[in-house]
Amino acid sequence: MHSLLVLNGPNLNLLGTRQPEIYGRTTLADIEALCAATAREVGARVSCWQSNHEGALVEAIQQARRSHDGIILNAGAYTHSSIALMDAIAATGLPTVELHLSNIHAREPFRQRSFIAPVAVGQICGFGANGYRLAILALVEHLQRRAGTESDATDGPPTETR
Ligand code: DQA
Repeated sequence: MHSLLVLNGPNLNLLGTRQPEIYGRTTLADIEALCAATAREVGARVSCWQSNHEGALVEAIQQARRSHDGIILNAGAYTHSSIALMDAIAATGLPTVELHLSNIHAREPFRQRSFIAPVAVGQICGFGANGYRLAILALVEHLQRRAGTESDATDGPPTETR
């Protein structure tokens, strides 16, 4: 069973009341419940955590190496500034899906640059809270495909079929 960490960064604890015209009215608690339900649906385990502090997020990413198979990260504003978070993801080597509720590419120019994107498996943005569901499905499929490829590699050379 794959174990996923859903990590939310600064100000995402305010979801529900924070600029609802941009981020919607779904609360972080609702999102965490959605993550748990989606994980159950696909036979994965999920833990959710939020922090407003960059260093605490770095530590959570480092610790995930021992306990999780992949990360879904909404780094909030740190997306656009944090080399430390980028380095932490690269250092752990855990497959990471970058996530944003809003479509950061359709917003201010400073939001269109992401330090997470170069070290992420991929990015999901613009689908609101449903993006968390999409990210879990994408990450679980990625992990399953990767596990399949690894066992193919240890099974010896592929046999020719005609
Ligand atoms: C966000 C987008 C960021 O630019 C912003 O700073 C956030 C939320 C999103 O989910 O759309 O805090 O990551």
